[in-house]
Amino acid sequence: MSEFDEFDEINYPRPYETGFGDILDRAMSRRNFLGATARVGAASFVMSTGLLGASTAARADSPSMGFEAVKATSADAITLPAGYESQVVVRWGDPLWSKGVDFDQATRGTGESQEMAFGDNCDGMMFYPTSDTSGVMAVNNEYSNRNIICPDGINTADDVRKVKAAHGVSVFEVAMKDGQWQTVVDSKYNRKFTADADMEITGPARGDALMKTAADPSGTKSLGTWNNCGNGTTPWGTYLACEENFNGYFGSTDEAHEPTAMQKRYGVGNKDWKYNWYKHDARFDISKEANECNRAGYIVEIDPLDPSSTPKKRTALGRFKHENAAIVIADNGHAVAYMGDDERGEYLYRFVSKNKYEEGNDAANRNLLEEGTLSVAKFGEADANLAGKGEWIELTHGKNGIDASAGFASQAEVCIHARLAGDVVGATTMDRPEWVAANPNKAEVYCTLTNNKNRGKKPNRGGVETPAGGPNPRVGNLYGQVVRWMPAGGDHTAAGFDWDLFVVAGNPTLHDDLNAGSSNINENNMFNSPDGLSFDVDGRLWIQTDGNYSNEEEFAGMGNNQMLCADTASGEIRRFMVGPIACEVTGASWSKDRTTMFIGIQHPGEKDKPSHWPDGGDTVPRSAVVAVRRTDGGIIGA
Ligand code: FEO
Ligand code: CA
Ligand code: CA
Repeated sequence: MSEFDEFDEINYPRPYETGFGDILDRAMSRRNFLGATARVGAASFVMSTGLLGASTAARADSPSMGFEAVKATSADAITLPAGYESQVVVRWGDPLWSKGVDFDQATRGTGESQEMAFGDNCDGMMFYPTSDTSGVMAVNNEYSNRNIICPDGINTADDVRKVKAAHGVSVFEVAMKDGQWQTVVDSKYNRKFTADADMEITGPARGDALMKTAADPSGTKSLGTWNNCGNGTTPWGTYLACEENFNGYFGSTDEAHEPTAMQKRYGVGNKDWKYNWYKHDARFDISKEANECNRAGYIVEIDPLDPSSTPKKRTALGRFKHENAAIVIADNGHAVAYMGDDERGEYLYRFVSKNKYEEGNDAANRNLLEEGTLSVAKFGEADANLAGKGEWIELTHGKNGIDASAGFASQAEVCIHARLAGDVVGATTMDRPEWVAANPNKAEVYCTLTNNKNRGKKPNRGGVETPAGGPNPRVGNLYGQVVRWMPAGGDHTAAGFDWDLFVVAGNPTLHDDLNAGSSNINENNMFNSPDGLSFDVDGRLWIQTDGNYSNEEEFAGMGNNQMLCADTASGEIRRFMVGPIACEVTGASWSKDRTTMFIGIQHPGEKDKPSHWPDGGDTVPRSAVVAVRRTDGGIIGA
């Protein structure tokens, strides 16, 4: 999502800092940075500027990239390489049950119709195959474009019911029929977890005083999940929906109400983001219910193949604006989750399970996210190649100064106020950590740092200064970068790591400093604001963008948001797909035989931009899950 952080800036502006704006001087020159990718790319890294196409030789240990790059475009369409085609699988408002009704272009539906239909603004997703031609999809429906779903505003109780039902997670069966992936209406798997669905609170914060509300004095059962951004998936077959900008749905009917410091640290205040839920549902009114906001901002574990299961909020993994969760089983058997907190100047986290993964014992594995050690990343200074060392610092009550003297009574409070614990230990403020992805074939992990106009200019929401440096080298970072870390000894549970920058996005047609980007960026593959990030099983890295699509000024030549494919060994990045007008491309999953890649097109036509995707004519733009295939039936990207 590209819009919500702007709301926070408007509602709760932070003063510009003085004193380190001149840190600009520390930004590395591009010439210095060439060393980094040269080191990564070794001898075979050849970037032929001015040449589109599959000409760059892949390294012997790299998966192939056997497609011709597509050019940047501002077309209101999905643009793919020659030999590829796409189809829409499901659009916002398409019914998942036969008692639903077709999407109404004029009204954009009612509360009742939306409760029967696929939600809005699809984001993270995962396909759980039941055969080569069928499976169950779990898809986050992150948020709604208010002016599209309710053109006259969200005013009535039914408007609120509709918009709540457009949020959350949709789970549904899809199957190949007549050569197309189609939803299986009325499948036993079809479920919707809206902003009012039953959730179980698990982990250290379960039953804590801060989790108790008038409606749930036990502090163990909450209602709903909303603003789920990226996702994770586990080796034990569950789906992880990640609650991100949960704060924007809380407001106060009493304008004189004073939010707490803890609420402010998370952006919860008297003004919501114009969803108006708090006017119709008292649990979103912070003047009436102070603790409901403590029950959002978690990783939610869902079993998509068990239609009777209740989602579990995993508080052990911390409360913050979760982007996604990359799950790895470390060599020593512990389950590891890497997670970003997507806000300017917030932190990168790691969770290590207390217990070990047991092959074939998923009943036990399903408790792995219940208990473990939460840590936060502290990056060391960058060397001349923009690389360095770092360490994970435990956020455990009683350690590292996280105790009663710092305001933490228990581990429950550490989890609920993870950001404040990160402040205490001096975690590194990051340029908006979005998705994390772990290489399936190597002990290395990547995270998109999408952009940060406040870097070197404003503190984070906790008042922590954000000087340029380390993996966040540019003041007022416009374009974003992808940081990569290699755990010490290849052990994902180790405290130490080495890091470098896999790519620094930029515009080499305009700049010759670090804003030109790293040496694997050229006029034919340039992009901004990397966000979605996924590895396929062969080790291709797929980078999706959610950035400036003006195609003008600093962003000239970049076109609409897009998806690129990267060879992590050579550093080569090649544009694979461009999305329609004003969309973000987000979410990726594959069919069992890997001949279909499912991707999400989110918020086409946001901010009143002229998109009519996917149906054309004068239709309302609708976010949708898209299936991409090769006309020859081959593996995607190969
Ligand atoms: Fe929902 Fe951080 O993007
Ligand atoms: Ca984003
Ligand atoms: Ca995102």
